Amino acid sequence: MVFNTTRSDITAGLDEIGDWSVDKLRILKDYSAAYAVILQHQRNERTGKKQFFTGYIDAFAGAGEHIHKGTGALVKGSPQIALELATQFDHYDFIDLNPERVGRLQKLAQERSNVTIHHGDCNEILLKTVLPKYRYEDFRRALCFLDPYSLQLDWNVMKTAGRMRSVEIFLNFPIHDMNRNAKRKNIGDVDTTSRERMTKFWGDESWHAAMFAPSKQAPLPGLFDDATPDLEKVDQASFVSAFQRRLRDVAGFKHVPNPVPMRNTKGAVVYYLFFASNNPTGDRIAKDILKKYP
Ligand SMILES: C[S@@+](CC[C@H](N)C(=O)[O-])C[C@H]1O[C@@H](n2cnc3c(N)ncnc32)[C@H](O)[C@@H]1O
Repeated sequence: MVFNTTRSDITAGLDEIGDWSVDKLRILKDYSAAYAVILQHQRNERTGKKQFFTGYIDAFAGAGEHIHKGTGALVKGSPQIALELATQFDHYDFIDLNPERVGRLQKLAQERSNVTIHHGDCNEILLKTVLPKYRYEDFRRALCFLDPYSLQLDWNVMKTAGRMRSVEIFLNFPIHDMNRNAKRKNIGDVDTTSRERMTKFWGDESWHAAMFAPSKQAPLPGLFDDATPDLEKVDQASFVSAFQRRLRDVAGFKHVPNPVPMRNTKGAVVYYLFFASNNPTGDRIAKDILKKYP
C-alpha cells in the first residue's frame, strides 16, 4: 500500500507567522545558542567537573513549525530550533495545551531521550513540575520561553522564576490583547473575563493605574527614545515600563533590559519581547542581541 503525504497533511493545524515572529525566533535562537555554550562549558574550579545542569523550557511550545505568511515556506518553531542547537541543553521540557500539537512535538522528539513533552496548562505544569527541578542551590539552570498568543500566562510563573534566581525568561508581552480587551478608562467597563485574564497576567489590579496614570509611571530612560510625545504612545511606553519595573521589583529579576517592540508590516506593535534574568552575563548577551532589533 502506498501512502502519499500531501503538503496540506503537513501544514494542517500550523500557524501562519509574519516577519516579526521570525525575528522573535532569531533572537531566541541567538540567545539560546550563547547560553548553552557558556553554561555547558563552565567547570567547577575545585573538582573540574561540569558546573551546571541546564534546561530549556518551552512553555507555549506550539507545533514545532509554522508557515510563513508571505512566502508559504515552512519555518522552524521554537522547540525545533532548540533541539537543533550545536551545543545542546541537558534537558528539554515542551508544554502545549493543544493535543494535536503535543502529538507533533512527540514526533519531533521521538529519537531523543532528554525531552519531556507535557500536555496541559503550562501555568500549572511549570509551577508544579518543571520549575521546581531547577533549584539554584542544586546548580541547575534553565532558560524558559513564555510565548502565549495572548493573556494566557499567570504572573505566579514569572514571579516564581524571578525569585528562584536560576531561571531566565523570554516573555511575549501581549500588548495587542491588553489594548483591545482590557484598556477601558473605567475598570468597571472591562468585561469580567478580560479583567480576570489581565489581573492573572499582571498579578494584581495595579495594571489599570499603570495604563491610565502616565505621569506617575514615566518610562525608564532609553525606552522608546524615538516616541513622539503623543499621549497614546506615552501611555503605552509608561505602561510597558511599569511592567518592566514589576519584573524587577516584584518578581526580583536583577536584569530586565528594555523590551523589543515587535511590529507587523503596518508598523503596529503586536507584542513586546521581554528578557529577564538574574545573571549579568546573560543580561549583557541579551542586550547585544536585542539592540539589533530597535
Ligand atoms: C504563539 S504559539 C507558540 C509558538 C512557539 N513558541 C514558536 O515560537 O514556535 C502559542 C501556543 O501556546 C499554546 N497554549 C495556549 N494556552 C496555553 C496554556 N495555557 N498552556 C500551554 N500551552 C498553551 C497554543 O496551543 C499554541 O500552540
